[in-house]
Amino acid sequence: MSKTIIISNRLPLQINIENDQLEVTPSVGGLATGLKSFHKEGDSIWIGWSGMPEEEIPGHLIEDVKVKAKEEDCIAVNLTSEEIDGFYYGFSNRTVWPLFHYFMEYTESDDWYWETYKKVNQKYAEEVLKHYEEGDHIWVHDYQLLLVPNMIREHAPDAIIGFFNHIPFPSYEVFRTLPWREEVLEGVLGADLIGFHTYDYERHFLSSVSRILRHQVDFNEITLPDRIVKVDSFPMGIDYEKFEKAALNHFKNTAEDKSELQRRLDHHLKTTPDAKLILSLDRLDYTKGIANRLRAFEFFLDKYPEFIEKVRLVMLAVPSRSNVPQYQRLKREIDELVGRINGKFSTVSWTPIWYFYRSMPFENLVDLYTSCDIALLTPIRDGMNLVAKEYIATRTDHTGILILSEMAGAAHEMNEALLINPNNFDQIARTLKQAFEMPKEEQIERNKMLQKRLKRYSVEKWAQDFMKSLRNTEDNRQAFEAM
Ligand code: ADP
Ligand code: F6P
Repeated sequence: MSKTIIISNRLPLQINIENDQLEVTPSVGGLATGLKSFHKEGDSIWIGWSGMPEEEIPGHLIEDVKVKAKEEDCIAVNLTSEEIDGFYYGFSNRTVWPLFHYFMEYTESDDWYWETYKKVNQKYAEEVLKHYEEGDHIWVHDYQLLLVPNMIREHAPDAIIGFFNHIPFPSYEVFRTLPWREEVLEGVLGADLIGFHTYDYERHFLSSVSRILRHQVDFNEITLPDRIVKVDSFPMGIDYEKFEKAALNHFKNTAEDKSELQRRLDHHLKTTPDAKLILSLDRLDYTKGIANRLRAFEFFLDKYPEFIEKVRLVMLAVPSRSNVPQYQRLKREIDELVGRINGKFSTVSWTPIWYFYRSMPFENLVDLYTSCDIALLTPIRDGMNLVAKEYIATRTDHTGILILSEMAGAAHEMNEALLINPNNFDQIARTLKQAFEMPKEEQIERNKMLQKRLKRYSVEKWAQDFMKSLRNTEDNRQAFEAM
């Protein structure tokens, strides 16, 4: 029977070693959390990195890593520290990530990063080829593996290959600055179907293909000498039921079942019943606009001092890519901003910001989603932003207000949210005030519409649509051969 082979840089499970024992935790990030439900339900295997450098896995535990991964239908690709430096911290996160998010000043062009990226992409492709059988569908994910589709195609010319990009694809004017632009496009074009979250990213990609490689592009099809490649947009959804159910269960918790975090949140609600909680939740990444968010919050408190002691920003920043200098600088900047704002506004009984720099278990995320009256998400650029969707899915009584950056892919489908420009602090401050004053009926009306859409276009539907479209590319092939 044919199967689906999923390939992404990271597996949905992160393996660590504590006291000579393997510890398995779920990976953080939209790709892993979103795709996990599709993987669980379907007949698929998932190939990716376990999250640890190969040298740090003691010899006697290597087999255990394989077994742990296998229990979850996963296959771990081992990467050495050097490969992680050049491929992951290097080309993926110092070249492609900043460039594709329009942070050109952060983009580095380094030959060694590029050479390592090619080598590691080859490693992933070889792992896929080891498990590939005729009739299987191969689904390659994200910007860390842009060359993999063509590397597979070279050895399995008839394979059915899909590629999905989870981050923005930049405009031609930005993409063309990449020294390896031709190789990158040729790598992706090894796929039969290429998917993006939004129509804009799709258009930018098609424009780069036609202007850089001069291939014929008709509407959303690219004609290569030997094949037709289809490009389309598939906005990724969430496992709606999982979040809805978790929220409903959360409300059934007795006092003893409650987490320490929830008790603190409850205490806040009890002691300051007319104060509101604003949620800020992301990986600590410069694309997420966390520093802007803090500055806008400060601007809000300066502009509307009547909200002092009536509001608290609960900010969870999950450590991410901490070997990259920009992430280290951002961490320092955020520490300073939080300290400064808390110092400036705190009273003896109140601090405006609660700041957590750590990863939290799923239950705590649900505590935060369900307890916060407002979610303030202000990315400067974001491929999608699943946190926005998760927040809405957990609002089972339909209250709550989402303030979302118009630069997030999710904004295209979430018109009923309060959309803001993350660089306009005055607009953010005014929108926060609007959120504070929004009647419950209006919140319910907006959220019901958002929820209906999110429920319908869940991650399951997203994956089904992509796979259906991928299967349809077989017809394209036959049509091409008949030409
Ligand atoms: P990105 O993929 O850029 O990290 P998204 O908002 O699309 O951004 O996805 C983030 C995902 O990571 C969400 O599914 C969210 O639930 C998950 N997540 C965020 N913070 C945590 C955390 N502290 N612990 C576990 N999962 C988290
Ligand atoms: O969604 C974008 C993304 O880069 C995913 O590819 C990745 O899984 C996630 O964010 C988290 O990043 P990282 O794997 O670098 O920790």
